[in-house]
Amino acid sequence: MAFRPDIDIETVKSWCREVGDYQLDNFEGDIDFESKDQKINLVSEVDKKSESMLIERIAGEFPDHSVLAEERGEDRQKSSVRWIIDPLDGTVNYIHGFPIFSISIAVFQEETPELAVVYLPVRDVFFTSRQGEGSWRDSERLQVDDQAELSTSIVATGFPYDHQQESEEVLNYLEEIIPRAGGIRRTGSAAYDLALVAAGIFGGFWEIKLSPWDVAAGILLVKEAGGLASDFSGRDISLSGEEIVAGSPGVHDELLTFLQQAVR
Ligand code: IPD
Ligand code: CA
Ligand code: CA
Ligand code: CA
Repeated sequence: MAFRPDIDIETVKSWCREVGDYQLDNFEGDIDFESKDQKINLVSEVDKKSESMLIERIAGEFPDHSVLAEERGEDRQKSSVRWIIDPLDGTVNYIHGFPIFSISIAVFQEETPELAVVYLPVRDVFFTSRQGEGSWRDSERLQVDDQAELSTSIVATGFPYDHQQESEEVLNYLEEIIPRAGGIRRTGSAAYDLALVAAGIFGGFWEIKLSPWDVAAGILLVKEAGGLASDFSGRDISLSGEEIVAGSPGVHDELLTFLQQAVR
């Protein structure tokens, strides 16, 4: 049997709560931020500090493991166990004082997702999963809504920061989905979107131009709750891809069909 990393999920949750408390303490405060590659793609001192807090705790407990983190990038460790972390998913919401943001942590053994934690500090809610052991919202087992249909579901999406490059493609997808969906939501945190798919609240979710840290934990949450996650060709999702469509099996397939009909 393949070696599986021995990680206590309660320890990971305690790190999230500590970092989440720091984020809440600074929420709506006067925080420093700057633009990244695009004017509207922001990073704040809270993103950076949250990330260094998490990396410090991972390195303290698991000095041999490697870490891919949004702001710092990949480290130099060459371990088969890799943590993929987004210390603050929903930075734009956070900076504008809109109270939806999450912490997303996934642990991979080679290509296999082993563990996922998505934490919503504002509500003190944990979405967790382990490979083969289901997905949970705190102590409640999650299941996607098997009966869900696109026409009566709310489905979520997000919009890339590069409006010049991507607007047309995004609008083409929306043109296909808006008339067919029960409703569209945009939370501003892809990790939370996927957690809400796992919880059966969103029937599905799609987005382009995402990064591994946005989706690494959420994909495991969705799959372990009985949902599907693929790229826009229907291939099983890989972390190197930038596009994702996820949902309960029925809504996933409907979304996929209509996204494929859109002009790209
Ligand atoms: C962003 C959020 C957002 C998605 C963006 C991501 P960040 O992550 O997940 O929902 O639409 O594409 O970049 O930058 O807030 O960590
Ligand atoms: Ca970011
Ligand atoms: Ca993110
Ligand atoms: Ca982030």
